[in-house]
Amino acid sequence: MESGARTIIFLILSSALFSCNSAGGGLLASPGGRLSPGGEMIFNVLSFGAKPGQIQESTQAFIKAWHAACNFNGRVRLLVPPGVYRLSETTFGGPCKSQSPIIVQVQGTLQAVTDLSAYTGKGWISFSNVNGLTLTGGGTFDGQGRSLWRYNDCNNNPDCVHLPASLYFTKVTNAKVKSIKIINAMGFHMHVTNSYLFRAYRLDITSPADSPNTDGMHISRSANVKISRSIVKTGDDCISIGQGATNVTINRITCGPGHGISVGSLGKLPKELDVQGVIVKNSTLQGTTNGLRIKTYPASDPSRASGMLFQDIIMDNVENPIIINQNYGTKSSKPSLVKISDVIYQNVRGTTSSPVAVNLMCSSQAPCQNIHLNNVNLKFQGNLKLTATCTNAQVGYSGIQIPPPCQSGASA
Ligand SMILES: *[C@@H]1O[C@H](CO)[C@@H](O)[C@H](O)[C@H]1NC(C)=O
Ligand SMILES: *[C@@H]1O[C@H](CO)[C@@H](O)[C@H](O)[C@H]1NC(C)=O
Repeated sequence: MESGARTIIFLILSSALFSCNSAGGGLLASPGGRLSPGGEMIFNVLSFGAKPGQIQESTQAFIKAWHAACNFNGRVRLLVPPGVYRLSETTFGGPCKSQSPIIVQVQGTLQAVTDLSAYTGKGWISFSNVNGLTLTGGGTFDGQGRSLWRYNDCNNNPDCVHLPASLYFTKVTNAKVKSIKIINAMGFHMHVTNSYLFRAYRLDITSPADSPNTDGMHISRSANVKISRSIVKTGDDCISIGQGATNVTINRITCGPGHGISVGSLGKLPKELDVQGVIVKNSTLQGTTNGLRIKTYPASDPSRASGMLFQDIIMDNVENPIIINQNYGTKSSKPSLVKISDVIYQNVRGTTSSPVAVNLMCSSQAPCQNIHLNNVNLKFQGNLKLTATCTNAQVGYSGIQIPPPCQSGASA
């Protein structure tokens, strides 16, 4: 036994030495860092002055620890050990030196400062310009939105400024975000923009059903994004896919309460980018106001939203299971010019809490094209009759259809 343990210690030590050499003597060049037995340089926020469990903020300590990690050339980890840390706006900016992904391991709870004047940008915790990132650790990001939601006036002010997203990613590539909790965001829980090759899984996102604009995750201007195996309970969309999103795959998400999974809103701003390639599969919507929704503003600039597959979806007491609304948001007599096409709904089953289970309200100027429903099997409480309505939509059907195909059919 004892000699076995000695052998292990010897192996650990020799691998540490080896890694140290291969990292170019990074140990000495990295004050505050500690080389792990596995040859990783670890920067612990406590070594940079972070103060868990205190009123005092740890923002500067986190930023210093990040800079040390980001400037280290070798395998590197930023460690946030257990404890509660108060942070105001914190930006983790790159580019970083390491060729391998920088690992941010959050074991503790990060708690947002609730003074709105502490925030000037779009995020509470932001990552920008980072190529290669793993954010994980089982920790919690608590946006403490409860005391700030009353400042959200987006319901009656179309030009409202959104409260900061808890996790804001911009220009982040090759990223994994996994096994963390995000609760009570001031605004969105996660916002991914201008990013590429981004994966998120095993997330637990929670805020109250009546919290305003607290989308679970918003994705825009990004390509090749995969979100899977996550639970999202919020007061707004579980996941919303905005302009410029390409190749977004959503798999095995449990969503609700909230407003469901949305493509949109699109067409609010001038010259928006197209949305292309969205797959939502093996997901469950529970008690949400919408299930699978595509929403666009009226009076928009022209753009496209195409190539979408919604497959193997379970609806559990959802108000509008399948809905396209091209008259979303503001009132206007001018139609939306966002052209929606090539959308497949396949194997959608479960229950709805309203009689109009399929509602496709497309634009008179940009009618929906090539919409296909295959095996849609929904039930209304007490087996009351379900209906489908379609306006300006070209719809094809196959397999089971409950509700039956639209009465008005395609006026396009
Ligand atoms: C989206 O996926 C398609 C098919 O895999 C691929 O050809 C295309 O390059 C991807 N788009 C981007 C922007 O990466
Ligand atoms: C996805 O759902 C289909 C139909 O419900 C099921 O057959 C399949 O096993 C599921 N796949 C995964 C990976 O959960």
